[in-house]
Amino acid sequence: MHVIASPAEFRHAARTAPQPLVLVPTMGALHDGHRALVRRARELAGPGGTVAVSIFVNPIQFDRPGDLAAYPQTLEADLAACEADGADLVFTPEPAAMYFPDRSVTVTESSLSGHLCGAARPGHFDGVCTVVLKLFLLSGASAAVFGEKDFQQLAVIRRMVRDLDVPVEIVPHPTVREADGLAMSSRNVRLSPEHRADAPRIRRALLAARDLLKSGERSAETIADAARGLLEASPFLKPDYLATVDEETLQPVATIERPAVLAFAGFYGEVRLIDHVRLLP
Ligand code: PAJ
Repeated sequence: MHVIASPAEFRHAARTAPQPLVLVPTMGALHDGHRALVRRARELAGPGGTVAVSIFVNPIQFDRPGDLAAYPQTLEADLAACEADGADLVFTPEPAAMYFPDRSVTVTESSLSGHLCGAARPGHFDGVCTVVLKLFLLSGASAAVFGEKDFQQLAVIRRMVRDLDVPVEIVPHPTVREADGLAMSSRNVRLSPEHRADAPRIRRALLAARDLLKSGERSAETIADAARGLLEASPFLKPDYLATVDEETLQPVATIERPAVLAFAGFYGEVRLIDHVRLLP
């Protein structure tokens, strides 16, 4: 496994590596969710192909400086995990090597980004699109694996790939969870023990809402209310949004007639967690 910090060297290594090359973009602090993506990439690349993992805490996608400063960094453990899961190349650039001080071109997504996480985090998805496009161009990957946990991110990246004819196949991977249902996140380690013990309610609330759909309910509001009750019962959790949106357009829906998503984001103290369930009529 080669660990490369320089973008020019990474470009060269990726272009001369055995193809196909499958990329897994991450911000490090790797947990079993990320690791499942790397193993999926290994399957997709096959024994003769190349798996590249990027580890880069992308400053331009953070809207709160405190969140960027508090982002966990565990490079040594991350590299050991990449090695164990079969990565061939790991790209670990410094921010100064990725962004010119006077950079003036970014990728802007102007439809899907306005809702949900985008509403609360202005500029976030433009920062994500910009770095992901740069990583695609540097690596020349033919495919890239993304987690469904960040379903809005996945939808935005798919839209970028569609609208800009980016020749990269986007491969989704299901959300990997802790035994108690909490979606794995690099932010979970920042939860206090009390908050960590409370957090599985997010998954339980979303599943309760989905159960209502299964019993025949089609009103998005009634379904969301079933989750809201359980979420609001927490003495710690401060909801940011709970929304029922169309799976593809991310526009709010009133009745579940097409595949939709019930999406939640909320804070335990300073720690922001997200989760969602698919609602299939
Ligand atoms: P990061 O939060 O490190 O996540 C990297 C990838 O791992 C994303 O595709 C994310 O959806 C996936 N992932 C995280 N937790 C997961 C889980 N519990 N189950 C399955 N997949 C999971 O998302 C980013 O970084 C950045 O925005 C990035 C795309 C790297 C651009 O900077």
